[in-house]
Amino acid sequence: MKKTIAVLPGDGVGKEVTKGAVEVLKAVANCFDHEFEFTYGLVGGEAIDKKGMPFPEATAEMCQQADAVLLGAVGGPKWDSNPPHLRPEKGLLAMRKALDVYANLRPVSFSPSLIDASPLKREYVEGVDFIIVRELLGGLYFGEPRGRNVEQGEETAVDTLVYKRSEIERIITTAFEIASKRKKKVTSVDKANVLESSRLWREVAEEVAKKYPDVTLDHMLVDSAAMQLIRNPKQFDVVVTENMFGDILSDEASVLTGSLGMLPSASLSMAGPSLYEPIHGSAPDIAGQNKANPIAAVLSAAMMLRHSFQMEEEARVIEKAVEQVLSAGYRTADLSVGGGHFISTAKMVEEIIDAIVDDSAISKIMTCYS
Ligand code: IPM
Ligand code: MG
Repeated sequence: MKKTIAVLPGDGVGKEVTKGAVEVLKAVANCFDHEFEFTYGLVGGEAIDKKGMPFPEATAEMCQQADAVLLGAVGGPKWDSNPPHLRPEKGLLAMRKALDVYANLRPVSFSPSLIDASPLKREYVEGVDFIIVRELLGGLYFGEPRGRNVEQGEETAVDTLVYKRSEIERIITTAFEIASKRKKKVTSVDKANVLESSRLWREVAEEVAKKYPDVTLDHMLVDSAAMQLIRNPKQFDVVVTENMFGDILSDEASVLTGSLGMLPSASLSMAGPSLYEPIHGSAPDIAGQNKANPIAAVLSAAMMLRHSFQMEEEARVIEKAVEQVLSAGYRTADLSVGGGHFISTAKMVEEIIDAIVDDSAISKIMTCYS
């Protein structure tokens, strides 16, 4: 199968981890006789430096022409004091909007090999397997009015949390669709005891739930959800929530299973190309040192194969290879709690590729003999 993948490395460790993910995709293409063509574009701080804007038109066009987009990370201290429209993060938000990727899927699952890297006790995290479905195009991130002004002589800043019924309906529907193929439980997280937007969110969730009689729906307030994620993370299957709540809860959830460097994400659109990115940031403190954990980016590539290209077997081969390398004791620096064999970004990628090649060679021989 031939596919075009737009790669936007972005800033900081984004460059190293996307490089690794591309190498893994090339290995998969080789093993499974696919043709992946990679096109490269600028986004974030580097795009500001070279093109004067965080999401240049040329990058937007390149993404639209691709079958899927792989992003690294954006941001860094160099651009921290830029005005709002010239911040790297603005490029990421503009890109999400342009690609209409409304559903951000962030799976969190326990890996037996990383039990020692989790700050929680084994009995709390063993068996954790849930997915956060974060609304990505509305809520506090995009609501108008926003900005700064002076009101009655005092400096004031405003952000707005706004949702339309249709925006809530499509994200809740996505959550129910996913849950119906999993453990059939949706937890909708809101702040309905305070916020109007959450009250609408809850009503719509109840309405959508009626179409899925075999899926149960629970509501949880976001402060309580933050606590429950630590106290009893095994209770969750699909967690659906507002843009900013999802941003915060997914960073919290990432530590359950070891490290932020492990968590991939998929941002799905209804029609056009979807976007795949690790949930971690550009980690300027370790950028360029061959230290970053490439696994979140590699697993994001696996999600791309699954969700955009319907290559389930190929996705599984990647996931299995990652598990194998971790269980062999290989670790990047972020997974250092609990010991192991410390390796660089590039070496981790090499180990994952070796495991993929071994695995697919074995399955090819098996097919030949079956
Ligand atoms: C994420 C990131 C982004 C977000 C930032 C970089 C704008 O934290 O993808 O979780 O808040 O969405
Ligand atoms: Mg975040």
